[in-house]
Amino acid sequence: MRTFFPRRVRDYKARFKMPGSQPLRVACIGAGYVGGPTMAVIAAKTPPEAVQVRVLDLSAERIAAWNSERLPIYEPGLSELVFAARGRNLHFSTAIDDGIKWADIIFVAVNTPTKECGIGAGAAADLTYVELAARQIAAAADTPKIVVEKSTVPIRTAEALSAILEACGRTSFEILSNPEFLAEGTAVRDLCEPDRVLIGGDLKTERGRQALEALVELYAYWVPRERILTTNVWSSELSKLVANAFLAQRVSSINSISALCELSGAQIDEVARAVGLDRRIGPRFLQCSVGFGGSCFQKDILNLVYLCESFGLNVVADYWRSVIAINDWQKQRFTARILHSLYNTATNKKIAILGFAFKKDTADTRESAAIDVCGSLLQECAKLSIYDPQVPAEQIWSDLTRRCRRTRDELAAYVTLAATADEAAAGSHAIVILTEWDEFRTLDYSKMYKSMCRPAFLFDGRSVCDLKALSEIGFLCYAIGSPDDSRIQLR
Ligand code: UDX
Ligand code: ADP
Repeated sequence: MRTFFPRRVRDYKARFKMPGSQPLRVACIGAGYVGGPTMAVIAAKTPPEAVQVRVLDLSAERIAAWNSERLPIYEPGLSELVFAARGRNLHFSTAIDDGIKWADIIFVAVNTPTKECGIGAGAAADLTYVELAARQIAAAADTPKIVVEKSTVPIRTAEALSAILEACGRTSFEILSNPEFLAEGTAVRDLCEPDRVLIGGDLKTERGRQALEALVELYAYWVPRERILTTNVWSSELSKLVANAFLAQRVSSINSISALCELSGAQIDEVARAVGLDRRIGPRFLQCSVGFGGSCFQKDILNLVYLCESFGLNVVADYWRSVIAINDWQKQRFTARILHSLYNTATNKKIAILGFAFKKDTADTRESAAIDVCGSLLQECAKLSIYDPQVPAEQIWSDLTRRCRRTRDELAAYVTLAATADEAAAGSHAIVILTEWDEFRTLDYSKMYKSMCRPAFLFDGRSVCDLKALSEIGFLCYAIGSPDDSRIQLR
């Protein structure tokens, strides 16, 4: 059989215990939310004699953090894994060219934000970082490599990667697509016990099949074979976009019904439960909210929309675009409700914002609904006191200055960052809950109520509070998907 890759790549799992055999060398370009946890789990789940992992990043600061006691991202269970594997078979480095030369398999996990200007602005993915990484691989590599596309990319990116690598490189490359399905906050569990691992490759050539098999073997250390799916590259790339679009669509569907519940007297959680008990539908991703965020949902849907439009499938594009339209509307609707309740003026009123991350158990704020809600309240000249248990202060300032197009000094008259929820609430007219952190379920709301202006409002964008109990304390409450106060008291 013709072989294209070094001996250590072929059948390495069977051979790694043989004297003189070398471990498989895995590198990852990009030490972010995807690259960091994914590589930590690969290292943790494989013996060091069989697999060595290097995580590479341009940012010296990020790499220093990965090598320190305080990791650059907050993810439950991650630090334990990293501390156990670091120095054993997990290494973090800025020596990118070195790492590329060294590696047999190179994962590309760089950021792919939505384009901000030019053709496709606001919709298409900006592939600048992917292309740069490809050019770096092409320039440094001098032995055959398996390049694995891990970042979320529009379909046919593998083709572009392949073209760049083949045109600029001195050696041969095999491109695989291995989309990431981890969700932040549960990344370690998602990676350790994935529903499936999807690997797309060139099934038509011997070289493609060998590359695919090498990656399958790597995952097979801890993932049952029947959960490792192999497809062609484009199916794999498209599946990632579609999976996220379907999940986001469920959230927008339940959010659309939350508006109907508020007006009709139905309770969204009761409706979601009744609907989700149908096994054909299932209970997950039916939690109504102030709007989905995160780095993937909106970006992936926009990619899908862009793709449909470029094939002339405008009706399909409109269908998926409406998922984002509902999400935007949900955020606006929530903010409008706050303003309306505050007698149509928020000017100089202190409002406590509880939660800034796009969901609980992460410090990530990308596309967080909190950015839009806070931005709109700041346009109304409200005074915000923001508390989030994990998001660093710098991140909040950077998100708000960007959203409001104002300097930090200009915003400082209107924004303060609180160290606790109690501090945020003291002297405020309203509490606004924007992230479902567990601690917000057990706050001493009676104590907070006593420190607030009257009437004291509470707007729950995440269904974390017991509205009946809060109403008894004296709060005027509004929760997404629940009928308004007067109806609650009638129940
Ligand atoms: C998502 C996908 O789940 C994951 O498979 C993919 O790899 C990356 O994108 P993530 O964005 O990290 O993961 O979090 P997810 O749990 O999917 O939540 C996304 C957003 O939807 C969050 O803002 C969350 O609060 C919101 N959401 C989720 C709801 O509002 N209601 C729900 O029922 C579920
Ligand atoms: P994701 O959520 O997709 O993981 P992040 O923004 O968290 O995205 O991480 C992407 C990482 O990729 C960043 O740390 C960034 O510095 C890094 N990066 C981007 N381009 C390159 C490159 N060409 N070489 C090395 N690292 C890169």
